[in-house]
Amino acid sequence: MPRNIIDVVDLTVEEIDELIATAEDIIQNPAKYQEACRHRQLATLFFEPSTRTRLSFESAMLALGGSVLGFSEANSSSTAKGETVGDTVHTVSCYADIIAMRHPKEGAPYAAAQFSEVPIINAGDGGHNHPTQTLTDLLTIHREKGRLNGFTVGFCGDLKFGRTVHSLVNALSRYDGIRFVLVSPAELKLPRYVKEEALKKRNLPYVQTTDLDSVMPELDLLYMTRVQKERFFNEEDYLRLKDSYILTPEKLERAKADLSILHPLPRVNEIAVAVDRDPRAAYWKQVKNGKFIRMALILKLLDIHV
Ligand code: CP
Repeated sequence: MPRNIIDVVDLTVEEIDELIATAEDIIQNPAKYQEACRHRQLATLFFEPSTRTRLSFESAMLALGGSVLGFSEANSSSTAKGETVGDTVHTVSCYADIIAMRHPKEGAPYAAAQFSEVPIINAGDGGHNHPTQTLTDLLTIHREKGRLNGFTVGFCGDLKFGRTVHSLVNALSRYDGIRFVLVSPAELKLPRYVKEEALKKRNLPYVQTTDLDSVMPELDLLYMTRVQKERFFNEEDYLRLKDSYILTPEKLERAKADLSILHPLPRVNEIAVAVDRDPRAAYWKQVKNGKFIRMALILKLLDIHV
């Protein structure tokens, strides 16, 4: 059976730490890795739009000396003719050594993996999980802070539909000394199942609030998120909630001097462009880190040692 990464908990903490160490080595010594995946192929099957995840996966495979194939919208594949996701993935696994797949339906990558002869990586499934964004976030936090424990972390925005939040809460809950501050409108709270599994079961400290300003001085990390328009059932609710939180230089005046601001991107309106010039803004570094951690993950799943 191939090794799949459907959820971040498919990786042990030791494996995550090992991936971060490999990504750091790739950043320091890129030439060492440039032929590592020669004659290997990555397929990117994106049934939902993406800029960073798809292109960072493709860039990662090309930087490893491999090649890429795939599609960036369902309508350009035989899905448009009614082919099932299982048959699509079974077909592609005949042509590629590893598959990164994004789908709007929660659980689709897990279901598809049952039909694959090669490793499947979940590149985002609906409002559920996004494990490789979490690896990107963890590498960024590690690079910014030098550790992955002992923080107060604020998650702000759409915690209900934000799959990157669900995966990162799950991942950080396995490191020591993390305190979670969950900031959202009442309608967009972190789902009960994530709280139960990641926080309550482990007896971890967390607070829920609607007020970002009041908790800002406590935070070591602030993870901003976009309100996920595509997951809403009606536009009226989206329009009412979309600008609930807008991070500006003024709002950051009360934040710690060594705060790190993360955002998985894309952003819409929730971080003012002026914040990009703040040295605490780490989200453009996150974009770069996404490529290196995905290089490390491809090597691991293909069992290639450099
Ligand atoms: N962070 C992220 O998943 O971005 P894309 O939707 O552009 O891939």
